Amino acid sequence: MIMTNELERAFQGASAEAPYDSLETFEKVLALRLPSEDSSAINRVYRRMIPRWHFAMLNDTERNRTFHEALRAQVAPGQLVLDVGTGSGLLAMMAVRAGARAAVSCEVLEPIAHMARRIIAANDLSERVSVLSKSSFDLSVGRDLPTLADVLVTETIDCGLLGEGILPIVHHAREHLLRPEARIIPARARIVFALLESSAIHRNNFVFEASGFDVSMFNHFSTREYFPVRLVTWDHTLLSIPTKAFDFDFREFPPTSRVTRVPVEVRQSGTVHGIVFWFELDLGDGVHLSNAPSNPRSHWMQAVLCFERPLHFDRGATAVVEAAHDATSVWFNIHPPIERKSI
Ligand SMILES: C[S@@+](CC[C@H](N)C(=O)[O-])C[C@H]1O[C@@H](n2cnc3c(N)ncnc32)[C@H](O)[C@@H]1O
Repeated sequence: MIMTNELERAFQGASAEAPYDSLETFEKVLALRLPSEDSSAINRVYRRMIPRWHFAMLNDTERNRTFHEALRAQVAPGQLVLDVGTGSGLLAMMAVRAGARAAVSCEVLEPIAHMARRIIAANDLSERVSVLSKSSFDLSVGRDLPTLADVLVTETIDCGLLGEGILPIVHHAREHLLRPEARIIPARARIVFALLESSAIHRNNFVFEASGFDVSMFNHFSTREYFPVRLVTWDHTLLSIPTKAFDFDFREFPPTSRVTRVPVEVRQSGTVHGIVFWFELDLGDGVHLSNAPSNPRSHWMQAVLCFERPLHFDRGATAVVEAAHDATSVWFNIHPPIERKSI
């Protein structure tokens, strides 16, 4: 049995010599770096290195439909579209179907970039859609793009909006790769949160007692960041109405870090174990997409951040929620009850 770290070293070794001209060459180099006795080793490398969510994402028909609709609304005939993080090449292919003269796309994971080229060729679009095996931060006009692009499309969005790096990606593209008046898909986004009561979800990240032993020191390893949760599958109560934390306008230069304090009325007495949050995307011209709990078919789950010490609030109290984000993450904190209303 090949150990995981051997697989990772083999993959990284093969990728370090990138770019290869094809997936076949890439796999030959990978095979040379793997112990020979395991015939399924290359598939195990892919299973570990290519995020599994690509499949659910590509099968998310609402996501695909709304990005397609947005591209049809934003791309004018003959324009050049830049697709950052092309994956299978889907959005770049949609862009030329929407009328772009060409789409230049990039994908940082080399095997995925090779596969995108194959998929694009199989769809007879290689003349108009190109794929660069590199990070968008390494692209330059003249070498990789013939001109500044007229439209940027990027679906580099995780359940908490910022975790895949959409803020720095858009910032960099606006500064180096796009015309000043370029359309950006998505155009805007909002992060919305609610107070979450759910001991069941909290137990996924914190532990205090097991079989009569105090094991609470294990919480040293709890994540302090958000994690994806399909809210509908867990016992839970939302103790507040959905409330806005942050707005982002990708057509401007949105700030890369902010802190805000949001007073939230507690609608029902209970224990706040954490904050559940999600995004609302405005893809332009009234095309919207969200991973709100009310949309359980979205492949994106909701994002949950749990507090180590849950806080009890009475109905009518005001919880002060501190929301913060930097370029690639979002955090929440909560302050003890500050006032009570007579109800
Ligand atoms: C969420 S997937 C979306 C794939 C595809 N655009 C779609 O909508 O089906 C994002 C992809 O972007 C790639 N990626 C993330 N940041 C990137 C960057 N700065 N430059 C190039 N690729 C990037 C990831 O490897 C991943 O394959």
